[in-house]
Amino acid sequence: MCGIVGFTSRSASAVGPLVSGLRRLEYRGYDSAGVALECDEGIKVFKQTGKVAELDALLKKELPEEERGKFTVGIAHTRWATHGLPTTVNAHPHIADGGSLALVHNGIVENYAALRSGLEKHGVKFVSQTDTEVLAHLVATFDKGDLLAATCEALKRVEGTYGIALISAKHPGEMIVARKGSPLVIGVGEKDIVVASDVSAIVAYTRQVIYLKDGDVARITPDGVDIHSLDFSPVSREVQEVDWDIGAIEKGGYEHFMLKEIFEQPDALRNTIRGRLDAGEGTAILSGLNLRPRDLAAVRRLVIIGCGTSLHAGMVGKYLFETLADIPASAEQAAEFRYCNPIVGPDDWVIALSQSGETADTLAAVRESNRKGALVSGLCNVVGSTIAREAGRGVYLHAGPEISVASTKAFTAQVTALLMTALKLGRTRRLSLEEGVKLVAEIERIPDLISEVLKKSDDIAKIAEKYAKADDMFFIGRGILYPAALEGALKIKEVAYVHAEGYQAAELKHGPIALLGEETPVVALLSDIAGKEKTLGNVQECRARRAPVIGIVTEGDAAAAAAVNDAITLPRTSAPIAPIVTAVALQLLAYHVARLRGCEIDQPRNLAKSVTVE
Ligand code: F6R
Repeated sequence: MCGIVGFTSRSASAVGPLVSGLRRLEYRGYDSAGVALECDEGIKVFKQTGKVAELDALLKKELPEEERGKFTVGIAHTRWATHGLPTTVNAHPHIADGGSLALVHNGIVENYAALRSGLEKHGVKFVSQTDTEVLAHLVATFDKGDLLAATCEALKRVEGTYGIALISAKHPGEMIVARKGSPLVIGVGEKDIVVASDVSAIVAYTRQVIYLKDGDVARITPDGVDIHSLDFSPVSREVQEVDWDIGAIEKGGYEHFMLKEIFEQPDALRNTIRGRLDAGEGTAILSGLNLRPRDLAAVRRLVIIGCGTSLHAGMVGKYLFETLADIPASAEQAAEFRYCNPIVGPDDWVIALSQSGETADTLAAVRESNRKGALVSGLCNVVGSTIAREAGRGVYLHAGPEISVASTKAFTAQVTALLMTALKLGRTRRLSLEEGVKLVAEIERIPDLISEVLKKSDDIAKIAEKYAKADDMFFIGRGILYPAALEGALKIKEVAYVHAEGYQAAELKHGPIALLGEETPVVALLSDIAGKEKTLGNVQECRARRAPVIGIVTEGDAAAAAAVNDAITLPRTSAPIAPIVTAVALQLLAYHVARLRGCEIDQPRNLAKSVTVE
């Protein structure tokens, strides 16, 4: 979604760092971009619809190299339209006070209409349709000589969410930033200070960062950072070190981030697993959960919440908890859960899954669960993210930054983390030591099993060639493989723009089978685990309607391979691991189909990496 970058330095020009910061945020999805730069003569704003490259071209045209040095402070933004069309006028930064104040904003000002009409009554003229312009004017109205105080006064009147950065020609050298429900990170370099809504725009400069908390407002100058709460009292936040470097967010020779992240999965999952398995006791050590055996024993029901790919991982989790820990579990779409006045309480354990840790619906569901007294934990990838913090306890995935909009390594890391959680919970219940020890050994093998699947990439690419022209596809799976079918369909929709449906294998004949024919390939998930024979029956039904079937089958399973038109073979695994290896094969299928169709794989149309609006 929208991205913010800010830069201040005693001597270096802000122009280059702002533009390269915006480029680092491109993966989040956006439709316009802009920068505001401050110098002795005031503030200059440049905005452009389309890509950062177009903004860069505009800057090159309007701002000769020799002039750039005088702009040492600036803010920049990529906008994903919410209020108003993606036009240049609606692009950020927005200005106020006759052009002397510029502001960028992520999030949504819910009471913007009321604030706007109040300001209009006092003669303020608006030029855009955005909620953000209200913020710029509101801060300007309260500016009586202290920009931080003015920002606090303005933000006290705002309902909704924000991450903001602003500069003012009346306060040279200063940048004010604030957050509530939308992330903001301050990178404290030796000479420069960089601010961004995402740490990936900072690590090129420094790995020393301050994660602002909700309600924090900070004054940033080249000399340092001064953080206050909205009521203007000083607060202190520790400087932390980011545990990955710039290499993790570069393509490293791969054509796309998606492919790189698919291939990173063995290492990513090694990091997810590292230090968390106890082979002797046949259990998992998940200290971030901070739960004693008696807390775990008291849990009566599990509710797993998430959106999109995270929801699909949660659906796998449901099977894992029910089979390994003998505990009723459900997986719920976070927004539906939140708005259905959910029946949860102290006996329920709510696990929120989110790669980004910022998804608005999942965050709202976490808050609702906390309000109702449930035991809540987060399972996030991004360290320090809002969901991770608000959940209060949880398991970090440690899968490394995920830049491709389509989530890949987060899914397999989430399922692995859920598997370890189910193992831990199972061992406090009826899962025997022997079964636990066996499962630990299987979990330890996951990275190598994924490496085996990755070796099939070229074979999968060949199969993709046969089906790349299909406009409709079905993905069918049964039991624990059903969520993998949903995930396979989601991946190919997102990156290859193929209309795809994921179905329970048994459900196909209850209606959707009417759509099958020669032009409608079916991907059947046929790992050699319980239920496979029944799915093979469903494959026959598809083939009888002339639908070509691509089977994801277990190596050596000649019967399954013979039953399909094209087989992708995977290493043999037990049922809990089957969705992981299957998902990797389906990620590769989606990737190769998308590539053949010439799609913009890392930034699919209309999509944003983290969905911070409800
Ligand atoms: C799919 C995808 C989305 C996300 C969803 C939740 O490839 O990326 O469906 O999975 O928006 O995002 P997180 O996990 O960040 O909460």
